[in-house]
Amino acid sequence: MKNTILVTGGVGFIGSNFVLDWIASETASVVNLDKLTYAGNLQNLESLTGNSRHIFVRGDIGDAELVAKLLAEHQPRAIVNFAAESHVDRSIHGPGEFIQTNIVGTFQLLEATRAYWGALNEEDKKAFRFLHVSTDEVYGSLKPEDPAFKETNSYEPNSPYSASKAASDHLVRAYHHTYGLPVLTTNCSNNYGPYHFPEKLIPLIIHNALAGKALPIYGDGQQVRDWLYVRDHCSAIRRVLEAGRVGDTYNVGGWNEKPNLDVVHTLCAILDELSPRADGNAYAEQVTYVTDRLGHDRRYAIDATKIHRELGWKPGETFESGIRKTVQWYLANQTWVRNVTSGDYTNWIQKNYKVED
Ligand code: NAD
Ligand code: TYD
Repeated sequence: MKNTILVTGGVGFIGSNFVLDWIASETASVVNLDKLTYAGNLQNLESLTGNSRHIFVRGDIGDAELVAKLLAEHQPRAIVNFAAESHVDRSIHGPGEFIQTNIVGTFQLLEATRAYWGALNEEDKKAFRFLHVSTDEVYGSLKPEDPAFKETNSYEPNSPYSASKAASDHLVRAYHHTYGLPVLTTNCSNNYGPYHFPEKLIPLIIHNALAGKALPIYGDGQQVRDWLYVRDHCSAIRRVLEAGRVGDTYNVGGWNEKPNLDVVHTLCAILDELSPRADGNAYAEQVTYVTDRLGHDRRYAIDATKIHRELGWKPGETFESGIRKTVQWYLANQTWVRNVTSGDYTNWIQKNYKVED
């Protein structure tokens, strides 16, 4: 094996943050396999242009032949699987792609990995890792008084997205138990930060606020999410890859449970301070309640005790520091925002919110 890792979906939100951090802090090279769906934006990795430690390959994790060729050619010591369809609302409108990439794609990737890993010598076999990046949404929805999700919680996915991620987690688990593939799984809470596609709550609110548009709150806005700054998720993945116990799962979270409405008001207050509206009024005036998401999960919360106790990982950002950094990043990167909000994204927004743009 070589001092190379294969990252899938490394051009999307979390994957691109991971690749940037990895190149800056580790020695191994990265082969980045990404299909470049609407969510994959190569501009995220513009700063790596000409860097010989980053090789980008456009392709599908479900293309077994391509994956086999890449594994044979680059001999990676690990695979980190970010590639997925990731947006719950899209999974409600059209679950097919979620089944294809998240389940069938992961299966094909596991098959190609099993063949590659099976042919390694004993020492390399032991050292190899397949790290599967998953979500807390596989555990379902919590009641207000329920304790946060532990690794031992049962899987109760409620959306086509979370069901497809749950299925992929089960396949990864089965490949360890059946074939001995050295896998690791991380289940993380909601991420936010740079390069977040503006269809998700936080970047969408920042974008709409600055554009003078409505800030859409689904239902009563009292749904709770547990927010983690994306770079903290990336450091957790690096730590699990380095020291995680083979076959184990690790819950990753920031102990930052917030109702959606609080998040939106926090964003409005930071924008009022850093980029006030021309008319001097508060951005919070733009808040608009819209029809709730179908089957909307009420609350997610991660108990991150295991990764802290066993691997010594903890987040570097509080919600307050991370959210301010995020707003500052979006204000400083309006060209990036303009580029991603053209084309496919505009069509999607119109379909989802049934509004004229
Ligand atoms: P994203 O939608 O921003 O990026 C996904 C990337 O995968 C894109 O670059 C896309 O082009 C690529 N991709 C999609 N289908 C592919 C395929 N068949 N083959 C190769 N590449 C493909 O998603 P994200 O928010 O960066 O999430 C990354 C991973 O982390 C996902 O597995 C997601 O389930 C998980 N996760 C996300 C969050 C979150 O808050 N965003 C939280 C926990 C876990
Ligand atoms: P989202 O960013 O889509 O992440 P997830 O559904 O994976 O948690 O949504 C975060 C929360 O914000 C979720 O409860 C849905 C809600 N939401 C809104 O109220 N308005 C919006 O426009 C969006 C995109 C999300």
